[in-house]
Amino acid sequence: MSETFRKFLRTLPDFPALLPGFDPENAPADPVELFKQWLDEALAAGEQQPHAFSLATVGGQQPSSRMLILKNIDDDGWHFATSRTSRKGRELAEAPRAAMNFYWPSQGRQVRVAGPVVELSAEASAVDWHERPRADGSDNPNWQLYALQPTEYEFWQASNDGEHVRHRLGPDGNRPG
Ligand SMILES: Cc1cc2nc3c(=O)[nH]c(=O)nc-3n(C[C@H](O)[C@H](O)[C@H](O)COP(=O)(O)O)c2cc1C
Repeated sequence: MSETFRKFLRTLPDFPALLPGFDPENAPADPVELFKQWLDEALAAGEQQPHAFSLATVGGQQPSSRMLILKNIDDDGWHFATSRTSRKGRELAEAPRAAMNFYWPSQGRQVRVAGPVVELSAEASAVDWHERPRADGSDNPNWQLYALQPTEYEFWQASNDGEHVRHRLGPDGNRPG
């Protein structure tokens, strides 16, 4: 059975035949600008939720991850929102750092962003809560807007010749040593 499943997995499609190229030398030096460019291109390529990402947090000895929605990027960092009483909320209270991973299959692109996480204000958290599509007007004092402040980025572009491109950047867009 597991042999059948292994072979089945091997038959599944890899990256699409047509992938965009990526030359880090000609990319915007600012990682946020590059991210916004890739997000626009993912949207144009038909990705339904290009602003969805996996968030990994640390709890004791066990990492955990789940999908979230990116809410903004500004001087505070990369924003996301959740309940402080959720597993990730509790883990962030204990260990305030996380890793984000965006994946756009149609483009063969992945963006990894990691660093410390801070809590944004109660006012900003309430605005986010009330802006949800199905908001019913009730408050949620546990809803928290967070900002991840990147210390590392990696922009990854798949290539069908196997020469995948990894573009790693430090906090200010500098290349890490
Ligand atoms: C595409 C997608 C987007 C999601 N966005 C959010 C979000 O922005 N905030 C949130 O709290 N949960 C969001 N969820 C649900 C989370 O993945 C998760 O199930 C929930 O927050 C509980 O996670 P936890 O128990 O690890 O804390 C989303 C799920 C999916 C599939």
